[in-house]
Amino acid sequence: MSPSRPAVFAQAPIGVFDSGVGGLSIWRALRQSLPNEHLLYLADSQYAPYGDRSPEWIVERTLQMTQLLVDQGCKALVIACNTATLVAAPALRSRLSIPIIAIEPAIKPAATLSHSRSVALMATSRTLDSSGLQSLIDRYASDVEVIRIPCPGLADRVEALQLSGPEIEAELKKRLAPALQSQADTLVLGCTHYPFLRPTIEAISGSRFHILEPSFAVAAQVHRRLEQANCLNTQAQAGNSAFISSAPVDQAQKVIQALTGLSEPTMLAFPIHSLNVL
Ligand code: DGL
Repeated sequence: MSPSRPAVFAQAPIGVFDSGVGGLSIWRALRQSLPNEHLLYLADSQYAPYGDRSPEWIVERTLQMTQLLVDQGCKALVIACNTATLVAAPALRSRLSIPIIAIEPAIKPAATLSHSRSVALMATSRTLDSSGLQSLIDRYASDVEVIRIPCPGLADRVEALQLSGPEIEAELKKRLAPALQSQADTLVLGCTHYPFLRPTIEAISGSRFHILEPSFAVAAQVHRRLEQANCLNTQAQAGNSAFISSAPVDQAQKVIQALTGLSEPTMLAFPIHSLNVL
């Protein structure tokens, strides 16, 4: 907050956006690391998954959704979606003036950690095909084998709360097979939905991999950016959380309740009138 900016700016919420409920894995870390901040989470669950859509569609839709959070007065934006970051971050940064904290697969820490010089990456097809991912690999992991594991449909299962049980186990076994048969010692969860599947992934892979997902690193980065902008919320009381979803409210509330552990998550109406459906 600059000296001329009203104090209310520090009390404005941090906007958190994902194609659906996957970004709640980031919300969890933000809630823990920044307990005084108000959080406004937007899930575009009606239109999830983004991972199989065209880059043009993802850019347009992400711009619409993040504008909606800006219109609600958010002081900073967390793009809690690897797919939206890798495809739309440059467009967002050129349009919005508030701090944007984006998320990308943890390729850099994986390359640092891996002894076998082989890492596996689970992500959506769009993330795996993006030039953003390729440049991350070129920059930080050029001497590392990166085994790409496309996981179409997996984010949908999280949206449907299929987190454990024989069906999802069979699906994950199939997806993880190439990584389990390789030299990989590190597994990157390159989609914010997948941390909710971590217990099932661990049940299949045991202690075979270091599993990396960046939620606490993102929360630390949000803290740094707010501090730099002098707009950390220093109020003594706990911050609140509110949720907006493009899915029908009852359905959205049930899923958000299950993934956040909140007994009654506060749902705000989705301002549909302000959006074009693409
Ligand atoms: N949660 C999103 C991500 O981190 C992807 C899910 C989707 O395909 O919409 O990539």
